Amino acid sequence: MPKNFETVSHENRSFEPPKVFAKEARIGSEAAYQELYQRSIADPEGFWAEAAQDLHWFKRWDSVLDSTEAPFYKWFDGAQTNICYNCLDRHLENGLGDRVALHWEGEPGDQISLSFSDLHAEVSRFANVLKKLGIGKGDRVAVYLPMIPELVISLLACARIGAVHSVIFGGFSADSIRDRVLDSKTKMVITADGGFRRGKILELKKIVDEGVAVCDCVQNVLVIKRGGEFDIDCPMTKGRDLWYEDLVDEVDATCPAEPMEAEDLLFLLYTSGTTGKPKGIMHTTAGYQVFTYLTSKYVFDLKPDDVYWCTADVGWITGHSYIVYGILQNGVTQVMYEGAPDFPNQGRFWEIIERYKVTTFYTAPTAIRAFMKWGDDWLAEKDLSSLRLLGTVGEPINPEAWMWYHAKVGAERCPIVDTWWQTETGGHMLTPMPGATATKPGCATVPFFGIEPDVLTEDGESVEAGILAIKQPWPGMLRGIYSDPQRFKETYWCKWGGKYYFPGDGARKDEDGYYWILGRVDDVVNVSGHRIGTAELESVFVEHTDVAESAVIGIPHEIKGQGLIAFVTVIDGREFDDKLRQELVAMIDKSIGKFARPERIVFSHDLPKTRSGKIMRRLLRDIAEGRELGNTTTLADPGVVKNLQVQFEK
Ligand code: WTA
Repeated sequence: MPKNFETVSHENRSFEPPKVFAKEARIGSEAAYQELYQRSIADPEGFWAEAAQDLHWFKRWDSVLDSTEAPFYKWFDGAQTNICYNCLDRHLENGLGDRVALHWEGEPGDQISLSFSDLHAEVSRFANVLKKLGIGKGDRVAVYLPMIPELVISLLACARIGAVHSVIFGGFSADSIRDRVLDSKTKMVITADGGFRRGKILELKKIVDEGVAVCDCVQNVLVIKRGGEFDIDCPMTKGRDLWYEDLVDEVDATCPAEPMEAEDLLFLLYTSGTTGKPKGIMHTTAGYQVFTYLTSKYVFDLKPDDVYWCTADVGWITGHSYIVYGILQNGVTQVMYEGAPDFPNQGRFWEIIERYKVTTFYTAPTAIRAFMKWGDDWLAEKDLSSLRLLGTVGEPINPEAWMWYHAKVGAERCPIVDTWWQTETGGHMLTPMPGATATKPGCATVPFFGIEPDVLTEDGESVEAGILAIKQPWPGMLRGIYSDPQRFKETYWCKWGGKYYFPGDGARKDEDGYYWILGRVDDVVNVSGHRIGTAELESVFVEHTDVAESAVIGIPHEIKGQGLIAFVTVIDGREFDDKLRQELVAMIDKSIGKFARPERIVFSHDLPKTRSGKIMRRLLRDIAEGRELGNTTTLADPGVVKNLQVQFEK
């Protein structure tokens, strides 16, 4: 079992929802949660149909769930709707046009506030520009932007006209852009001249140029000026590249939202799996819409006066579901910040909370661990009394970090929602209900409505600690892997004969029925909340002509949660040296992005293998973590590990 098991199995502190919070909460008691949960499981279709009624539909559904072609489930089949309409137009119709939708703050300090009416106009203009450039229903549009308002605007504009967005996180390299663009046959790439990160300008357009140089499918690159008084060098290719600001003046701010079929593709988001090739996760319109709407509403206990802030980048699923779609559908004001948490100093986040009077703060455990390291003084000077709810996402949170978050940021007054979910699930799956669930540090606690989890053995037997499984389909679930239905079935639905969804995480169920996530059971590593497949790095290393073989593993890391260690063997006659090490690092930067750099690259003469030639990663983990070696009797050559231990300690 993964390492976290030992830490969390001793954790027995429990915190009741604060009374003041519970009194006002949407779900204000354990009994209220239980009642609604039981209803959602007994009659999921009735439950989800009722939730859907809050939203706007051009045409009502014929059936809520259609399982005839499972696991290719259909939700709200027959319905027509538009998620952008539900994020914007619906609020304008309800008289909320003047409410601030987005308080945006750039890293250098520039600020913009957009009301729902402003956002509606911006999105409509953007959508008209897209249409003018020949983008329509079903066309794939890649978005490679810094955290500027246009990132939200461009996604909503795509959704408004039925184009399929595929966001590529701004930390990815040119090669990653190329692979994603080619896989999805992207017609347009939206990017910016640059963006800010820790005081430096990231020249995104130049990375796009390199990435799409060989992509014939790309007809246009639409370039946004980051804005402000910054002059960013940005070469433009004639006939292909266009400045957004040159086009926007020629269109008006009226663009009706296109009625979309329930199962029309809304977006693709590529994520790492166990092979070298990232998967294009498919999310469709109606189910994702209802799921992100409802999870946001209950898990963040959203109220009209809230000021919500999620620190994730829109380049990841958290930003899609809980910056763009879930939050805007609830009509709540939010803060969006472009840059690093430690620029110009390590108090930046607390300053932002104070400035905008943030009520709901959603961040990652890796950030919390960094704040702890930076010291409490940064918080002490700031007024954080506006906060009423805290959340975490993306990786297991260690109890120490949870306790610090609870005491120092939440002043023991704010419930913490530790939300477990995935790119594939579209939204929250396991999470406390902030006004109802007693929380335990490090525990994702209980299922969201309509979600039926279990902990199973490989053979499907229900056990206390084992593999997490999800029994029923839910509206926000992925609908497939782009152009690879077989991989979709095999990856997620084959483990237990199609009866359960397999998320790839280990879990433990405690005596109160709470679920503790124990980390991945596959070869996916979670570095600072970013999913990285070890096979992705391995396939990059072996492209080097001098590398014979490689094995990459994840090990615990104090701040990042997990770090990567790469073991590399070279061909006969080649010496290990720093030059080779640098070449390998450069290859990772180029193929994936700097964020995927391993902590260490360890050269080895050989890798520990079974007699049938399988690399024994378990032993590599033992070596890297300085543990007593497990069973080595199945090794083909027991001498290999000794040698590796020596190399590792060098
Ligand atoms: C991990 C991020 C423990 C998990 C939303 C999952 C978590 C993977 C938690 C998905 C949590 C996410 N506690 N582990 N609260 N949230 N994970 O697709 O291993 O980037 O499978 O989605 O992150 O990562 P992804």
